[in-house]
Amino acid sequence: MTTTLQRTLVLVKPDGVERGLTGEILGRIERKGYRLVDLRWVRPSRELLERHYAEHAGKPFFEPLVEFMLTGPIVAAVFEGHEVIAGVRSLLGASDPTVAAPGTIRGDLGRDWGVAVQRNLVHASDSPESAAREIGIWFA
Ligand code: TYD
Ligand code: MG
Repeated sequence: MTTTLQRTLVLVKPDGVERGLTGEILGRIERKGYRLVDLRWVRPSRELLERHYAEHAGKPFFEPLVEFMLTGPIVAAVFEGHEVIAGVRSLLGASDPTVAAPGTIRGDLGRDWGVAVQRNLVHASDSPESAAREIGIWFA
């Protein structure tokens, strides 16, 4: 079997930072065996967030999502490893924290807060193309 050395973008979203879960979230990814290769604290502009989430423009949750991402600081990280993109997505669990499996970051640490957007603690790139695009946006 051949596998590919990859990099992926991880964001600890404002709810994760606010709840003091930055170390827990990044630590789970490190303990899995992925290597932290870049890290920064970011207060992104609306324009940056609209570029980051461009694939969702026009969807009903797009505006609430951008508004939520503007509510507080974000920790942006790059992790490296073989098949790290799929590996980190698997650690995150499903987008909806209500049904994300126990054992995953969202399943163990997240829940529904009764607001218009899923406050699900963390973002990670979902393909090699999105990883390259997103790392370029957050680590320009
Ligand atoms: P998406 O890319 O589908 O999920 P993921 O973060 O797991 O890649 O959606 C981006 C974010 O938009 C998601 O993390 C939370 C929010 N969102 C909602 O608030 N409601 C929804 O119905 C969906 C699909 C996403
Ligand atoms: Mg996504």
